[in-house]
Amino acid sequence: MIVGVPTEVKPDEYRVAITPIGVRELTEHGHQVLIQKGAGEGSAISDSDYEAQGARIIEGAAAVFAESEMVLGVKEPQPQEIGMLRPGQTLFTYLHLAPAPELTKGLCESNAICVAYETVEDGQGRLPLLAPMSEVAGKIATQAGAFMLEKPLGGRGILLGGVPGVPPANVMVIGGGAVGLHAASIAIGMEADVFVYDVSLEKLRELDVAFAGRASTVFSSTLSIEEKLPLMDLVIGGVLVHGARAPHVITRKQLGLMKAHAVLVDVAIDQGGCFETSRPTTHGDPTYEVDGIIHYCVTNMPGAVPITSTYALTNATLPYVLALADHGVVEAARRDPGLKFGINVADGKVTHPAVAEGVGMEYVPPDAVLGIGAPDAEVPGSRGAGATAAHAIPNGN
Ligand SMILES: NC(=O)c1ccc[n+]([C@@H]2O[C@H](COP(=O)([O-])OP(=O)(O)OC[C@H]3O[C@@H](n4cnc5c(N)ncnc54)[C@H](O)[C@@H]3O)[C@@H](O)[C@H]2O)c1
Repeated sequence: MIVGVPTEVKPDEYRVAITPIGVRELTEHGHQVLIQKGAGEGSAISDSDYEAQGARIIEGAAAVFAESEMVLGVKEPQPQEIGMLRPGQTLFTYLHLAPAPELTKGLCESNAICVAYETVEDGQGRLPLLAPMSEVAGKIATQAGAFMLEKPLGGRGILLGGVPGVPPANVMVIGGGAVGLHAASIAIGMEADVFVYDVSLEKLRELDVAFAGRASTVFSSTLSIEEKLPLMDLVIGGVLVHGARAPHVITRKQLGLMKAHAVLVDVAIDQGGCFETSRPTTHGDPTYEVDGIIHYCVTNMPGAVPITSTYALTNATLPYVLALADHGVVEAARRDPGLKFGINVADGKVTHPAVAEGVGMEYVPPDAVLGIGAPDAEVPGSRGAGATAAHAIPNGN
């Protein structure tokens, strides 16, 4: 298969969808890799690093899209990229379609098969391609929140960890998944008083053990959040209902309960935001104020630390990229039912139920559109990353 990697064009996005490690693996599997000139520069990967492992460097995104059977990305396609997609071509990237009806329509019109990193599941129903970026974003959320709490940046002017004789700041983390765990870990490390909220008792039990008494776990509800909000200096939102638009866990009215110039960090902004007053921001202009509360809502937080994020992302995506290149999307999804959940749009139809609900379009199961069906025979370890990295089977797409 011909696999293409264009340069990311979202503002302040420095990640790239493949490293020389991935180029080497794909070429050893008999595939061709096209990289847009300069695509790796933001992540400190030169064209010659890619070439040394067998990639061909080509000029311009249009040529990459035109020549590739599968296009790998990091962020959702930007308006100028949607028109470059071709019918039947596979796009494998983050999409976050539930809050994005225009983008969803554009992808449907392209007739490409669009597979979203964030809805691929493993054998336990977890999200293996979202997790690495959530780990990064969770850690940044606390760093950014601590910074924005400084007075010259508009915050209350409180140090997260306090000092001897002066108490630390209070940090509320809503959603105790990958984002929440990592945000809370950094807040604990910075010696803040930390409260983690989740609706899953199982998750709260795991966190309670992981934190070993250094943070409080709280069952999340309107009342339990409201009771503690007046005490909070920093609130980090990392809730997720798989594929769906984020639920609002803090309303505009509830901002009135908070201390003036407290900080909200909405990590779930890529799924529409979990605070009613959230709207997307960029690294260049990350915050705004509503009713005296500072909002930080950057949609591509890991993009700021590409040297960490590119490798964290591609470590997770590579086994799936190999499976898609070796077998084509239909056979790869047949062998790995978790990958099937990643197919959000195919042949002009929305093929993920939560996305369809989010954008108000009809849901058509991917099996009906692509004829995936069940695996012909049990493939050992077929659920989850790396399951289908069989060398010998040629392209199926
Ligand atoms: N802004 C960015 O740059 C960026 C980067 C990475 C991830 N994200 C986003 O962060 C969000 C969280 O990702 P994750 O990997 O941590 O997800 P996750 O599935 O690991 O965790 C989400 C948690 O939210 C909990 N939850 C759901 N509804 C809740 C509610 N009403 N109240 C409290 N908890 C609730 C779930 O039980 C789960 O434990 C996603 O929307 C993801 O796309 C954003």
